Amino acid sequence: MKRTLPILGLFVAGIAAVGTQSAVQAQQAWPARPIRIVVPFAPGGSTDIVARALGARASEGLGQTVVIENRAGAGGNIGAEVAARAAPDGYTLFMGHVGTLAINPALYRKLPYDPIRDFSPITLAIASPLMLVVHPSLPAKSLKDVLALARKRPGQLTYASAGSGSASHLGGALLESIGKVDVLHVPYKGTGPATMAVVGGEVTMMFSGQGTSWPLVNAGKLHAIAHTGAKSIPNAPKLAAMNDALPGYEVINWHGVLAPAGTSAEIIRRLHAEFVKALGANEVRARFTEDGFQVVGNTPDEFARFIAAEKDKWAKVIAGAKIPQE
Ligand code: MLT
Repeated sequence: MKRTLPILGLFVAGIAAVGTQSAVQAQQAWPARPIRIVVPFAPGGSTDIVARALGARASEGLGQTVVIENRAGAGGNIGAEVAARAAPDGYTLFMGHVGTLAINPALYRKLPYDPIRDFSPITLAIASPLMLVVHPSLPAKSLKDVLALARKRPGQLTYASAGSGSASHLGGALLESIGKVDVLHVPYKGTGPATMAVVGGEVTMMFSGQGTSWPLVNAGKLHAIAHTGAKSIPNAPKLAAMNDALPGYEVINWHGVLAPAGTSAEIIRRLHAEFVKALGANEVRARFTEDGFQVVGNTPDEFARFIAAEKDKWAKVIAGAKIPQE
């Protein structure tokens, strides 16, 4: 028994050495296979648009395919949980946004992930106001008209959203609380299907992402009523702001790239460099400008501080507007 101990010791030391060596090799070889970005909404919304444009460009620098995985449902919580629980090996990333990282912690009584503890921020990619759109046949051409119609028909006008806790949901919830109207929330699994429900006339209106709604507005399939930013937006300088008629109203959607917590600092540094490079690429900038998205591209620390500040801000907005918890 005594004689076997040193042999066992050597054997264990051997395993440890091989383990360290293979960990180093795995690190050096990264990325050795495709990387996935979990998008917690259906295709067609801004989360999906941003992930696809950035993923395609970043894949060139990373030398690997970047695959988009849409895991929609529960206001983004399903996809967020998938990404939070994934191995922190640099092969799973998350396209986080104002809903999953800042609104849902205050809106949901129980959240299956912690937006701060479970993720390692990489960079804030874009920020952008939403746009209130209606079917062109609605007898309401301005925000004043929409408010008047909603007051005339309490509980009858409907608004589509990307799910409870999404930016589009908060757009409608703030319209109700600040505008003092009663409109009915109809949640979908993303801005893509929700916006199509307005085009199809199933739902009265939506606070849709600009990237999704501009092509439909330009094609005459939707009518733009107002945007949710604080001042005028570059894509439509004459379009009214919601806060022109409803002081205090503001909803800015934002999207950023994160990795599961525990991803190595080296991998985070490389991902940060590649995604910031992708954000600076001419075709990406042109596409995002057309979509009404303001390009950011900050550091992981700045993004972490931004998430914490947004989480506090939305907790106050939700409590102040008495938006019911899910
Ligand atoms: C939202 O409304 O919060 C999202 O941008 C939804 C989406 O990207 O589909």
